[in-house]
This record gives sequence, structure tokens and C-alpha cells, in this order.
Amino acid sequence: MKLLVTGGMGFIGANFIRYVRSKQPAWAVVNVDKLTYAGNPENLADLEEGGNYRFFRGDIADYSFMEPIFQRGVDVVVNFAAESHVDRSIQDADPFVKSNIVGAQVLLELARRHAIKKFIQVSTDEVYGSLGAEGKFGEDAPLCPNSPYSASKAAADLLCRSFFKTYGVPVIVTRGANNFGPYQFPEKFMALIITNAVEEQAIPVYGDGLNVRDWIYVEDHCRALEAVLLKGQAGEIYNIGADNELSNLDLVRQILNELNKPDAVIKFVQDRPGHDRRYAVQSAKIKQLLRWRPVYSFREALKLTVNWYLAHPDWWKRVKSGSYRQYYQEWYGGLAK
Ligand code: NAD
Ligand code: TYD
Repeated sequence: MKLLVTGGMGFIGANFIRYVRSKQPAWAVVNVDKLTYAGNPENLADLEEGGNYRFFRGDIADYSFMEPIFQRGVDVVVNFAAESHVDRSIQDADPFVKSNIVGAQVLLELARRHAIKKFIQVSTDEVYGSLGAEGKFGEDAPLCPNSPYSASKAAADLLCRSFFKTYGVPVIVTRGANNFGPYQFPEKFMALIITNAVEEQAIPVYGDGLNVRDWIYVEDHCRALEAVLLKGQAGEIYNIGADNELSNLDLVRQILNELNKPDAVIKFVQDRPGHDRRYAVQSAKIKQLLRWRPVYSFREALKLTVNWYLAHPDWWKRVKSGSYRQYYQEWYGGLAK
């Protein structure tokens, strides 16, 4: 099996490639990543290039760059490549439209022309918008995105649907909950809390801190994507969640408790504009039809995650200081914006 994994130098993509290397060593993986600020080659620095693993630096929205990669032979596309941070999308939606929408369209077009066997679009529960106190989103909930990020992901989901309906491209859309685990860029809340707490710096909590997110350990998400790749039906959508709902404030307190740090570092700051109140997904479909289950309890996964950051201060200190960019500049020449 030849996999094209896009965005494999980012958080979930790098975890997925590591997962696949260990569980499915016969699969060949081609990793295409633009190396934006969020793509860090250090995440996969120990993987040997050549044989079953190749890396190409480039933009999924660039058709002429991507075409030769498809010409070399691809069975399955797993598209992680995206701008992924809501706060950045509020500052500037432009790269979100280019990478998340145009990028998906280019990949879909190439998948159509090269008769790809399966195309997995890694989407997010944020496309459904915000929930009140009750209920959870099923796969048939209407798309109601509220941030430029989630709107760009919803647009890509709809392009996927149209390429399945119109051309029969075997597309599957997955909608994952909030991920956490190793290699997460510390602008995202979970990694920010842990690294700020270790450094005894303030932890900015938006608004009243009562917004709720549904958390899943990244390895459980990767295992779900493997199940979708092996058993998922073309044209279907699968939610991927682990039923771990927590308010932001409860999450901060649990992590501070884990690290034996005082609550005094919590700092309430101005709310995010358009801040979604609550996310939660029903995952009965993937559980029943694809026999996937999360393996880790939230407590176990939180411990593993905190311990990973404690054991890898060099990694996140380089990322936080910006010096990681120097590291990959040396390896790969100039930098993408
Ligand atoms: P990330 O920001 O850590 O990584 C994104 C990667 O994509 C980076 O390596 C970046 O360099 C690369 N990239 C961006 N634009 C590109 C382009 N035009 N061409 C090639 N590469 C490009 O993001 P993540 O948290 O790992 O998320 C991966 C995917 O999963 C995204 O599509 C995101 O929408 C989705 N998702 C994320 C979460 C989450 O909680 N992090 C939850 C559900 C779904
Ligand atoms: P984030 O990790 O950005 O994921 P998303 O917004 O895509 O769910 O944020 C998770 C939650 O944490 C969200 O409710 C916003 C909140 N948050 C803070 O309170 N402070 C912060 O500094 C950040 C980055 C997020």
C-alpha cells in the first residue's frame, strides 16, 4: 500500500506517520509538507528517508508540484495538511482558504485523475459549530461553522462530498474531536497549558473558562484513521471522539494538579471573538461499523502527555523560542511563510 500523507510534519500527521511505521511497516509513506510555522521536521527526525519513507517539501495547493507525486503512484491519500489554529484564522483567513480549501480541491482533482483507491479528508468536529449544554453532534448534523478555520474545513468537506457524488472519487471524511499528545504545537491550549505551567508562566484562559471541548488522545485518533483506511466506506463521514468533555478551566486545573503547580498561574483574558461554547461528537458509527474504540482513558492519556512534555523540554523550548525554524532552515533551505 502506498500512502500519500500530507501535513506529516505537523502534530497529528507526525503521530500518524509514527503510528503507521510501527503498526503497518509494509506500507510505503510519502510525506508532503509545506513546512509552515506548524511543520517541524524535528518531529520525524529519527525516521530514515528512503525505502518505505520519503519526504517532499511542497504546497498541496500547487497542482504542478503535486502532480508528479501522484504520477509516481499513490493508493491512498490521507490529507492532514491545513492551517489549523482558530486564533490565527481570526487574524488572517487568507492562508486558511488557500491551504484548506484550494489545497483540498487540488488533491481531489489529482485523486480523480489518478484513480486513487481511497481519499481520507481529516476534518474536525468544529464544522458543526457550537452546542448548548445538551446533546452531541451526529454525522448528519448540519454544518454550521463559526470561525474562518472551521468554515474553511467545512468548505473542504463539501468539496469532498461533491467529488464523491459527481466523479465517484472514493472520499471519506473524518471529523475528529480536540486532539492532545506529543508534538503538539504549544499555541494549542493543551500544549500551552503544560509548557506554561512547567515554566510557571501565566496560563491565559479566554472569557469565563467554561467553554467545553471534547478531548481525544492523538494515538487513539490515529488508530481510528487506520480503521477508516482499512474498513471505511467511500462517501461516508465518521466522527471520532472519546467522550471526554471538559471545561477549559477544569482542564487547566487537572493539569496543574498533575504537575503540582498552584492555580495562581491562571489568568482570565479577553474572550476569543465568535468563541464556540461547546463541542461534543457521537462516535457510535465508527465504533459499531468499524469496531474502533479509544484505548486510553483520559487520565492515562493526560499523564502520558504531561510526561512526554516533561521528558522533551528541548523540543518545546525550541518551538516556543522560534529557534526550531533555524533548525529546519539548515535542512531544507528557505522557509515558507
Ligand atoms: P498542525 O497545524 O500541527 O499541522 C499542519 C501541518 O500541515 C503542518 O506540518 C504544516 O506545515 C502543513 N501544511 C499547512 N499548509 C500546507 C500546505 N498548503 N501544503 C502542505 N502542507 C501544509 O495541525 P494538526 O493539529 O496536526 O491538524 C492536522 C489536521 O487535522 C488538520 O487538517 C486539522 O484541521 C485536523 N484536525 C485537527 C484537530 C486538532 O485537535 N489538532 C482535531 C480534528 C481535526
Ligand atoms: P484550541 O486549542 O485553540 O482549540 P479549538 O479552539 O480549536 O478548540 O483551544 C481550545 C479551547 O481553549 C478553546 O475553547 C479556546 C481555549 N483557549 C484558551 O482559553 N486560552 C488559550 O490561550 C487558547 C489557545 C485557547
